[in-house]
Amino acid sequence: MPVSIVLGIESTCDETGVALVRGTTELLADVTATSMDEHARYGGIIPEIASRAHLHSFLPTMHAALEQANISLEDIDAIACAAGPGLVGSLTVGISAAKALALATGKPLYGVNHVIGHLAISQLTSGPLPKPCIGLIVSGGHSNLLLINNIATEVKELGGTLDDAAGEAFDKVGRLLGLPYPGGPHVDKLSQQGDLDAIRFPRGLSAVKDKERYRYDFSFSGLKTAVARYVEGISEGDIDETLKANICAGFSEAINDSLTAKAVRAALDNGCETIVVGGGFAANSRLRELIGERAAKAGIEIRIPPMKHCTDNGAQIAALGAAVFAAGAQPSPITFSPDSSLPLDVITV
Ligand code: KG4
Ligand code: ZN
Repeated sequence: MPVSIVLGIESTCDETGVALVRGTTELLADVTATSMDEHARYGGIIPEIASRAHLHSFLPTMHAALEQANISLEDIDAIACAAGPGLVGSLTVGISAAKALALATGKPLYGVNHVIGHLAISQLTSGPLPKPCIGLIVSGGHSNLLLINNIATEVKELGGTLDDAAGEAFDKVGRLLGLPYPGGPHVDKLSQQGDLDAIRFPRGLSAVKDKERYRYDFSFSGLKTAVARYVEGISEGDIDETLKANICAGFSEAINDSLTAKAVRAALDNGCETIVVGGGFAANSRLRELIGERAAKAGIEIRIPPMKHCTDNGAQIAALGAAVFAAGAQPSPITFSPDSSLPLDVITV
């Protein structure tokens, strides 16, 4: 029997992605269109603009992916699309397109979890994930630790942020420092020029009293407030580039210290030899460095996607769809709806 091909559709936020995966590890095509430039001037994602952009981009993106793989729709065996979490309007466009394709071709349809896709994409570069392993999700909307027994069928949430996500906190500090939207990559860039130890900001939920109750949880809103207070305490003329860089470096260190310490703790507690990292914030330079150092000391392997696959993309949906299809999961009912807050332990709807 020939190896199956799965088409994946991503439309949770501002990226329209279509990708094709053969088997569970071979990426045949991966095309992404983004509407980020249309949102930047508003300082945040405008859902209406994002939905409209998906509508315009979907067909050209899908045709480009089929062309890249040199196949036609008849050659695919299953269709996967992001079912959530994400913006309802954006999800609706991708899901409707996926449903239309499924009905027209007669292929099974799988509505899958976008966030779990950020981890499943690791299978395309590094092969099947070891069972069990720890997942560290870091994005604009999530900062969570997961115990992954099987990426296609069994994921358990160990903990997560009680308030802001890591990317969200970076974006807010970027705004505070007058950097363009989204602030995350700008704060990261500046932090690389700063001194990590010049300013020490607080690490949320790291006190001894929090060690059991909040063992795998994060809190970044106190840190964000501490940065705001620090900036307010300086007269405007005194915030030069060096000070800005030191603020970014101290802030980045506080977030990454918490994320990496708790990810390694989760791996050791649960007897896992691998931590897989995913989400937009996985592009953060200090996260990549620090988690590598700490995991190496603990004898743990780190899987972190290449930079181009940290941002939302169709390959993450095709990768998860391929894993789910190969595991023989039930297809989703054609009537399923987008779920803007799809829980992390729901892999297929
Ligand atoms: O996963 P993603 O593309 O979208 C969501 O599903 O949220 O993540 C986007 C988030 C944004 O908050 C963005 O500022 C942040 O990831 N981000 C970064 C970096 N690159 C993207 N944050 C810090 N450092 C970066 N290099
Ligand atoms: Zn994402």
